Amino acid sequence: MKPTIAPFPAARPRRARQSPAIRGLVRENTLTADDLIWPVFVREGTNQEEPVPSMPGVMRRSVDLTVKAAKEAWDLGVPAICIFPYTDPSLKTEDCAEAWNPDNISNRAIRAIKDAVPEMAVMTDVALDPYNINGHDGYVENGEIVNDRTVEALVKMTLAQAEAGADIIGPSDMMDGRIGAMRSALEAEGHQNVMILSYAAKYASACYGPFRDAVGASGALTGDKKTYQMDPANSDEAMRLIERDLNEGADMVMIKPGLPYLDMCRRAKETFGVPTFAYQVSGEYAMIQAAALNGWIDGEKIMLESLLCFKRAGCDGILTYFAPEVAKRLNG
Ligand code: PBG
Repeated sequence: MKPTIAPFPAARPRRARQSPAIRGLVRENTLTADDLIWPVFVREGTNQEEPVPSMPGVMRRSVDLTVKAAKEAWDLGVPAICIFPYTDPSLKTEDCAEAWNPDNISNRAIRAIKDAVPEMAVMTDVALDPYNINGHDGYVENGEIVNDRTVEALVKMTLAQAEAGADIIGPSDMMDGRIGAMRSALEAEGHQNVMILSYAAKYASACYGPFRDAVGASGALTGDKKTYQMDPANSDEAMRLIERDLNEGADMVMIKPGLPYLDMCRRAKETFGVPTFAYQVSGEYAMIQAAALNGWIDGEKIMLESLLCFKRAGCDGILTYFAPEVAKRLNG
């Protein structure tokens, strides 16, 4: 469709911007608390809360305080929470066995949240990096990230999370064949209703640094993740990966990072028309907070504007560290 516009003065597009009431009437997209998934970092202990230095405003919390924070977020209208573990270095091993321990910190947090706030949707992360001595999402053999053996481990991890009560499994590992393997295992073990939100188009981005600090993987990581995460230069490839993951049984797909990749959000939504999410990642969060703390930008306005832009780009929802903040603002 070619847009046509009547010549001035018949058309004065500014008429549609003249007052809050009129602007509200013609507004095409809205951000609501329903759109938000809140990523949180969980650590050992009780009554423990420590700030993540590279993510001002973000905490690592023990399970009890994570439950309390989840309840508060739910009460503000945030429908979903995503659990990331800060794993004690002593639990990181070559075989990553802690990843599928039914009592690891993530699985305990899932159970505790489902116990206290059963209606809240709990999402997980599936990748070996928090448990791997070398910080990679997959097993490393002779300096290479091996695919199929990693997928077997990821399936065990998935089942342990489903057993603990997870509603949405979030594979962030970028191995090949993992969605199909997870889907069959979930079906076979009676978890037909567990959803998979695939990190289908996850780029090898420099925006994940603060997250790696938060989960304690920064020091551990040797090399980079370019043999499994996508090249930021590519767009068609993302479409192929999304199509593949949907065919293998993913219910929803994600583009990651967020703001610099809005073209991918739009393209994915238009091509597939499935529930599409973006992850406003740690580096994006840190950039906004750092500039706001310096008084260089209005942090609150940028927070709301950036999240609204995801909706305009076609996203159904956003993973964002701002979730409770935003929900508070949208309520008020
Ligand atoms: C782990 C994982 C990462 C993020 C989510 N899951 C880091 C990575 O791939 O190195 C990043 C999230 C963020 O930066 O906020 N596989």
